[in-house]
Amino acid sequence: MTTRPYNFSAGPAAMPEAVLQTAAAEMLDWHGSGMGVMEMSHRGKEFGAIYEQAEADLRELLAVPAHFKILFMQGGGLAENAIVPLNLSRAGTVDFVLTGSWSQKSAKEALRYCSPQVAASAQESGFTTLPDPASWRLSAGASYVHLCSNETIHGVEFQALPDLKALGSNAPLVIDFSSHVLSRPVDWSRVGLAFGGAQKNVGPAGVTLVVVREDLLGHALPACPSAFDYKTVADNGSMYNTPPTYAIYMAGLTFQWLKAQGGVAEMERRNIAKAELLYGYLDASSFYVNKVAHAARSRMNVPFFLRDESRNDAFLAGAKARGLLQLKGHKSVGGMRASIYNAMPIEGVQALVDYLRDFEKEQA
Ligand SMILES: Cc1ncc(COP(=O)(O)O)c(C=O)c1O
Repeated sequence: MTTRPYNFSAGPAAMPEAVLQTAAAEMLDWHGSGMGVMEMSHRGKEFGAIYEQAEADLRELLAVPAHFKILFMQGGGLAENAIVPLNLSRAGTVDFVLTGSWSQKSAKEALRYCSPQVAASAQESGFTTLPDPASWRLSAGASYVHLCSNETIHGVEFQALPDLKALGSNAPLVIDFSSHVLSRPVDWSRVGLAFGGAQKNVGPAGVTLVVVREDLLGHALPACPSAFDYKTVADNGSMYNTPPTYAIYMAGLTFQWLKAQGGVAEMERRNIAKAELLYGYLDASSFYVNKVAHAARSRMNVPFFLRDESRNDAFLAGAKARGLLQLKGHKSVGGMRASIYNAMPIEGVQALVDYLRDFEKEQA
């Protein structure tokens, strides 16, 4: 049971309370070392142990095969929009599937380094659908295909990753999994590279996870900064430069918490139940509306609207008074958004549904 309000922020987002408690207890002295984690050399044996455990736990949780490297980098998702093409594009053609703000941003940034092509776009639907992979126009000889597997702002999520080979492309698939990493399994047989900022489902902002197939390393453009060359980062065990040590430690605590909960399979089960509860209520109500097509709905980010938007401020004030925080939607979409990442218990979603019902009754 949580002792804190339920926080529906899209990110930086709520963390498991048990993780925060452990971090608080270890703040001044990590495991009798006399040092807090922020004060340790990244090359010392104490941090070395934290790092190795975090990497091993992430590999286990996501069942990352041995021929993929796990990198802990800096710069966040937006920096990866440059770092990926700098490493993988070979300055050639890259196919983009546009499903919302984040994939659009990725394609725009890639233009600085390579030739992005729009293979498919859901813009016409206002990004409330996902384009059917069978209709994608994939380029022959593309360096890679990029998609955002969960669009945090528009609330659309790929329920399965495309099989590019079956679609006639030999290009590796790159996914931005920032906002649903560890909420469901990843089919690595379909992925060349996955990246994600930590601040939604993993830990504090400042560390970026990159999982990359080994054969994709070693092709960086000459202009690629050394600290962002995946091969250099991999060869140095993510310690070519000083890594974001405290964020890695916090991510490691989250990984341990996830394992104790039953791992990603259990998280997926809970996330399905949470999403069904919330979408179920929204769909049954004529007071609220979610505009995303059923098959494209995100289990993590649920944008919704009050049909009468003049009630938005009253809704948010009432939510806050009930201990339901950060429900305001992204400014580009408006309305409300409930982000229900791994750290959100079903009790929090139930509390939100109870509030949705009470607010509707009170306003009738
Ligand atoms: C899917 C996705 N990609 C990329 C980003 C950008 O991440 P950052 O702000 O860490 O650069 C976000 C941030 O919200 C996101 O949700």
